[in-house]
Amino acid sequence: MGTFTNLEKKWLFSLMITSAACIFFLAASFNVGLVSTIHSFNSLFFFLPSYQHANQTSSVNVEAKVLISPPPPPAPVSNPAPTPARPAIPRFAYLISGSKGDLEKTWRTLLALYHPLNHYVIHLDLESPPEERLDLLTRIEKHHVFNEVGNVFVITRSNLITYRGPTMVANTLHACAILLKRSKEWDWFINLSASDYPLVTQDDLLYTFSNINRSFNFIDHTSRLGWKLAKRAQPIIIDPGLYSTTKSDVFWVEPKRDLPTAFKLFTGSAWVILTREFVEYVIWGWDNLPRTLLMYYANFVSTPEGYFHTVACNTPEYAKTIVNADLHYISWDVPPRQHPHILNINDTDKMIESGAAFARKFNQDDPVLDVIDKKLLHKRRGLFTMGGWCIGKPKCSSVGDIYKLKPGPGAQRLQSLLDRLTSNAKSGLYQCK
Ligand SMILES: *[C@@H]1O[C@H](CO)[C@@H](O)[C@H](O)[C@H]1NC(C)=O
Ligand SMILES: *[C@@H]1O[C@H](CO)[C@@H](O)[C@H](O)[C@H]1NC(C)=O
Ligand SMILES: *[C@@H]1O[C@H](CO)[C@@H](O)[C@H](O)[C@H]1NC(C)=O
Ligand SMILES: *[C@@H]1O[C@H](CO)[C@@H](O)[C@H](O)[C@H]1NC(C)=O
Repeated sequence: MGTFTNLEKKWLFSLMITSAACIFFLAASFNVGLVSTIHSFNSLFFFLPSYQHANQTSSVNVEAKVLISPPPPPAPVSNPAPTPARPAIPRFAYLISGSKGDLEKTWRTLLALYHPLNHYVIHLDLESPPEERLDLLTRIEKHHVFNEVGNVFVITRSNLITYRGPTMVANTLHACAILLKRSKEWDWFINLSASDYPLVTQDDLLYTFSNINRSFNFIDHTSRLGWKLAKRAQPIIIDPGLYSTTKSDVFWVEPKRDLPTAFKLFTGSAWVILTREFVEYVIWGWDNLPRTLLMYYANFVSTPEGYFHTVACNTPEYAKTIVNADLHYISWDVPPRQHPHILNINDTDKMIESGAAFARKFNQDDPVLDVIDKKLLHKRRGLFTMGGWCIGKPKCSSVGDIYKLKPGPGAQRLQSLLDRLTSNAKSGLYQCK
């Protein structure tokens, strides 16, 4: 029996080779130049894997690794201690995204935000050079704590992102989908950039979030669009990032469109903290609204300032879960300009008093970050933020009890901010108004 199938296999194989050769000579004899013959010969084997090279002419090894290789399948998450999770401690799933020149900022923000209970997706967009993306990937692959815990994932097939275009939201949804697939264990998704930095330790954050209703979504929003009605809701834009290999800014097309009547528009901060349940609702789309709104927002200027806000407020189950805040300290110039004021050492007190969990935006290695590290995070350069899980020498070089939290003064500041915000949410006075 075994011999028979072996024989059969051998026979099949030689038949395949012969027929391939026959077709080759047949094609060649039809006088179709050598090049196209090879082409059609190749296409005979269309079922073999082939990777589209982004740019055939540049064959630097680095490019090969970052651009061409398919992403490794998401590894199953392995926690060092498979003790049953104490349900009281939640877990966060972070997206940290950066662009060209953001390698060091991304790395520092990752170290400042790290906790073994959480999950992290890191993305440097297509504008950052392959060397930079490879450097980040190598650092993460070589880091023994990341290796041991396995909770940091780098998106190697980077996305092209147009600031203020729908490609930004597509990237955020991409990260959400990866996080949903990689782990069933997280409770909130948090969207950050390389220019953001935490003002509390992860122990503070995990501790304060243990005590709040797990259905709260933090989305800063309003329906009072004001000047945005004419400038954002009516114009139609196209984001070339959706179909082009090279980056160019969004452009406007005529005519303008009417304001929507099938749903109400909301706008607000592009920084959000979303529950897993809401993220599943948006990604899986068992209701059609998240999908149709995504299509509507494909032609909207500053998509990230409206998509999640409009989806959540137009879905009654989620509208009542919204806390109208983004938990960020952001300082706008008066009058506001396109970008917020870059924070420096003179903002330290206001930043801390705000009780916010995160602040933005910072320049790379600005002295104020050293102050935050020292006073608020107890983090030393190149090492992690201090936490109850930290053991080893230097501190945090090994993973101890991951369920041990040591909240500090940051937890109290955040707690009083959250108390105020969540009681507003419960009153419903500031939701979707
Ligand atoms: C490929 O790379 C070369 C050299 O870097 C560049 O001139 C060319 O425009 C690139 N082509 C594409 C399609 O990106
Ligand atoms: C997510 O985070 C990035 C920071 O890189 C931000 O620019 C973007 O607008 C955010 N929001 C959404 C909804 O994508
Ligand atoms: C949490 O909030 C949701 C939505 O507001 C509410 O339906 C639910 O009862 C709350 N759960 C608890 C335990 O308070
Ligand atoms: C902080 O404020 C002081 C005093 O007003 C000023 O001299 C200094 O330039 C400021 N520092 C920065 C980084 O803006």
